[in-house]
Amino acid sequence: MTIAEQIEQLKKEKDAVILAHYYVPADVQEVADYIGDSFYLSKVATTLKNKSIVFAGVEFMGESAKILNPEKRVFMPDPSADCPMAHMIEPEEIERVRGEYPDVAVVCYINSTAETKTYSDVCVTSANAVKIVKNLPNKNIFFVPDQHLGSFVAEQVLEKNVILNPGYCPRHHQIKKEQVLEAKKKYPNALVLSHPECPKEVLEVSDYIGSTSGIINYATESNAQEFIIGTVVGVFHELKKRNPNKTFHAITSGQVCVNMEKVTLEKVKNVLETECNEVFVDDEVRRKALVPLTRMLELSK
Ligand code: 13P
Ligand code: SF4
Repeated sequence: MTIAEQIEQLKKEKDAVILAHYYVPADVQEVADYIGDSFYLSKVATTLKNKSIVFAGVEFMGESAKILNPEKRVFMPDPSADCPMAHMIEPEEIERVRGEYPDVAVVCYINSTAETKTYSDVCVTSANAVKIVKNLPNKNIFFVPDQHLGSFVAEQVLEKNVILNPGYCPRHHQIKKEQVLEAKKKYPNALVLSHPECPKEVLEVSDYIGSTSGIINYATESNAQEFIIGTVVGVFHELKKRNPNKTFHAITSGQVCVNMEKVTLEKVKNVLETECNEVFVDDEVRRKALVPLTRMLELSK
């Protein structure tokens, strides 16, 4: 039996379901029951009947699935797969800003720790941040931890005062405008599709800005045949699957999320077999972090 077949059998035996983000390796995406961006996966996690969830992604994703589904067992194929940006804000800084702006809404990108969520008013993902911030009653918004998604939101919602925090994703942050312009020169017919975690100067020369699902849907629906992709190359698997005749180029050789890459097929099989790497969230933290996550799901309807 191949590993994929063994995983299929184990899923049935253990009443488990596999959720995978578009950034994990292609062979892991292939054994998943649900593949998507962070928003889709967090929504899907609340609708599942299975006893266990194996989350092929990084820590904040497994943690959010557990917070939303305390009665289910959630497992991470590699518990060291973590998003560095999730740790780029401290509770003290949130408290400081709350002291300075008493009416502030703390808007927390889902790429954050469970602890950060407990200090926040609402969570967002790259797919729903603009819509949610627009609909908040507060004038002052403290957007954590990503400065780039925060600045993208600020530009779309000019009526708000968006306070930024200096966090960033190392993978998207390193992409430079000059590299995009070079790629455009090399592929003059290509459209540039970028994730809002890219710096503002990159977004300014992009034709479309959206979440990983947004990028995949845009490329699929577009009449264009060639695209320059400003996000992690894990999305190429779904892009090529849906668009076998279209061409996709990366901007730099650094568009790899080393943490998502840790999630291998062997490790997926191993968690199913041994039930190791279960995600646990402290009860008090879970109860408090559930509030902004639930609010996100409600406000994005
Ligand atoms: P999505 O919200 O598009 O899933 O992106 C998550 C992420 O980690 C981007 O780097
Ligand atoms: Fe975090 Fe960046 Fe990896 Fe996304 S690509 S999970 S933001 S490190």
